[in-house]
Amino acid sequence: MHETRPKELGDYRVLNLVGTGGMARVYRCRHKTTGQIVAIKVLDISADVNILPLFEREIRAMSQLRHPYIVPLQGYYLSPQLAYLVMPYFESTVADRLRMRLYSPREAAQALTHLAHALDYAHSLGYIHCDLKPSNLMLDSQERLYLSDFGLAKSIGKRSNDQVAFGTPPYMAPELADGAPADIRTDVYALGVLLCEMLSGHRPFEAERATDYFYLHRRALPPAPSQLNKVPPALDDVVLSALSKSPSERPQSAGELARLFQAAVAKLSEAEQRWNPPHCERPLIVLQPVQSSSGVLRELNVQSTQMRRPEPLSKRAAEETTVPERAKRGTQLLTALLLVALLALAALIVLLILR
Ligand SMILES: Nc1ncnc2c1ncn2[C@@H]1O[C@H](COP(=O)(O)OP(=O)(O)O)[C@@H](O)[C@H]1O
Ligand SMILES: [Mg+2]
Repeated sequence: MHETRPKELGDYRVLNLVGTGGMARVYRCRHKTTGQIVAIKVLDISADVNILPLFEREIRAMSQLRHPYIVPLQGYYLSPQLAYLVMPYFESTVADRLRMRLYSPREAAQALTHLAHALDYAHSLGYIHCDLKPSNLMLDSQERLYLSDFGLAKSIGKRSNDQVAFGTPPYMAPELADGAPADIRTDVYALGVLLCEMLSGHRPFEAERATDYFYLHRRALPPAPSQLNKVPPALDDVVLSALSKSPSERPQSAGELARLFQAAVAKLSEAEQRWNPPHCERPLIVLQPVQSSSGVLRELNVQSTQMRRPEPLSKRAAEETTVPERAKRGTQLLTALLLVALLALAALIVLLILR
């Protein structure tokens, strides 16, 4: 998307671009009369006409969800040429905060409790968020957390009519890759990924392609936060329970996960509760396959590429992954052959010298 920044939007003067997401740009704006600063999310209609219904869904969800920890809708405009929604402006997000400093167990428990309040409420009204990730969690000046971006929200129990599965691959529960409908436990899985990232600075799985993420979510046992950074091992079980492959083995609501996590944090020493681990490189971990799988796991856990955009789950994408995989394996074979040849040459030279 190249930037063509509008000068004004309705009663607002556009000040600057804040960020660009999968289907929209977000601008910081000032009301011409009141001077109020807001964030306006402008849909990139030219990119794909099919996103207008998604945007309408986001507007509907935002106007129905009224909760102290959910970003409220302040206004909107919808036409075939231009569509935007107005919301309060936030200085930062959990993604910004994570770049600066990781969460101590106590801070993570507090943030999760806030988030669980908002999610339990949305779930009680039949909304599954389906896109929980750091850039969708706004922070105010006191670092209180607000849930935003219901653009991909689904209704509980309804199989989506979308031809493509949307979401952000590092946070997508395994059942979504199987085409199962999202439910409360789908959001609980994403909370597990989020919690792991807030505590350790790393998500359980890193891969280059969306299809690789789907494979890892379904087939690989997630590493514990304490394997990824200096996180108290006593917190591992709760985080891993949220990351269970089977939805029935996860905590059954966001609130239940928050209570379990809070209880685990309360058992830590005061110093452990308050300690923020420093950022660290992602350690190389050989992922283990889940028991029911073949026992063979392609090694996909060594990359650290970020995948932020919603990606279509298409057959073509699945096919695309096989070609570079084959190319990689070919290069590895060639390197091994070269090494053997070099060793043989070295042995020959030693033999000649000895004679
Ligand atoms: N209300 C807001 N106040 C300030 N920044 C926001 C607000 N809403 C979204 N943003 C920022 O705009 C960026 C783009 O948002 P979005 O289109 O939702 O994409 P994504 O969540 O996929 O990054 C986000 O990364 C976020 O940092
Ligand atoms: Mg967003």
